[in-house]
Amino acid sequence: MGNNALIHPYSVLSRDENTYVRIVSGNGVKLTDDAGNEYIDALASLWLCQIGHGNRTVIDAINAQLEQLQTYNTFEPFSNGPAVEVAEMVRARSQHPDGRVFLACSGSEAVDTALKFARRVQQRKGDTDRQIIVRRTAGYHGVNVGGTSVQGGAAYREGWGDLMPHVLEIPNDDIEPAAQLFATHGERIAAVITEPIQGAGGVIPPPTGYFEGLRRLCTDNGALLIFDEVICGFGRTGSWFGGQTFGVAPDIFTFAKGVTSGYIPLAGVVVSRDIADLLEADEAKFMHGYTYSGHPTACAAGVANLGVIESAGLVERATHIGGKLEEGLRALQADGMIESYRGLGGIWACDIGRDAAETRDAFLKRGVITRAIGNALAFCPPLIITDDEIGQIFDRLDDALRATAP
Ligand SMILES: Cc1ncc(COP(=O)(O)O)c(C=O)c1O
Repeated sequence: MGNNALIHPYSVLSRDENTYVRIVSGNGVKLTDDAGNEYIDALASLWLCQIGHGNRTVIDAINAQLEQLQTYNTFEPFSNGPAVEVAEMVRARSQHPDGRVFLACSGSEAVDTALKFARRVQQRKGDTDRQIIVRRTAGYHGVNVGGTSVQGGAAYREGWGDLMPHVLEIPNDDIEPAAQLFATHGERIAAVITEPIQGAGGVIPPPTGYFEGLRRLCTDNGALLIFDEVICGFGRTGSWFGGQTFGVAPDIFTFAKGVTSGYIPLAGVVVSRDIADLLEADEAKFMHGYTYSGHPTACAAGVANLGVIESAGLVERATHIGGKLEEGLRALQADGMIESYRGLGGIWACDIGRDAAETRDAFLKRGVITRAIGNALAFCPPLIITDDEIGQIFDRLDDALRATAP
């Protein structure tokens, strides 16, 4: 055992700090470690850095905000300009331009907030028995207690004692079991939560017609549809939000990561106008909020980052990147190097037919950072990545796959 102070997320806690790759700087899609090794960040940190590292516009906006007002809360009666502005920018680009926006720091906070909102709405409608949240197999929704309870992977839920009650699960690849679940429990279902494309669960797009079916089931049965847009938001799927890409509008959606490209943590929840009306009709005080909800420096980073995404055309660029990534993956499959691939816009994964951890490590040694999820390697690069850099990823992947072939 070492004597590390720092506990790393999702890590083996006995691992020695000295064996970690210590990242010291970033520029564009490139990162450098303390030994001077350079890496292509093919996962945009953790599915989040849309504009790449070291963007001067966002850094300057953060610095300017720090000079003026670093921090202040937005609990009633206080507000600040960046919080108001980023909320307006997010909703204006969403399917709910007249909805309302709650701000938080992390995707996990956003998810727990969305679950509370869904339950609250049902209570406000007088449906006090509607408490069930339906999750999907392989869904990932963060690590707070609500999010942990609706994780689609058992490994995330086990070992913590009792989680949130009233949670049911539907398969992610077939709408029929969802219809059966609604037929049995429809009167007690508060909401269904799903990512537009399941990210951490393995980059899994929905089957054709799945979301339309889910939308219909929710509407017909008085349940709410929650999209967890924490990865899919802000251009990743070729639209501002995944709901737009799939042509299905949720009642509530979460966002995080790409809203600031991760420069400062920021997250939130958008609710539709109908839900806002219900919540606004409540005379009682809204008893939910985080110290850092509407943090001015985080929000200033968001305003600047959304401006960069727009002015650099990164939402449209995701589709171009998707074409290049698909091309590379198709070639690898044709060469028999991978078994299959899947994805959309700027988020893809390939199945290599064996546990991907060793290949991920070989890829890292060759200067590309990606993520192993079971047999899959995931790709989610900054949306500023060039065709040449995508080419370098595939050259090195080919090499890493050959070096680790069974
Ligand atoms: C879809 C989704 N929801 C929620 C979360 C949790 O976000 P955070 O790690 O910021 O708490 C993640 C994190 O990857 C995510 O992918």
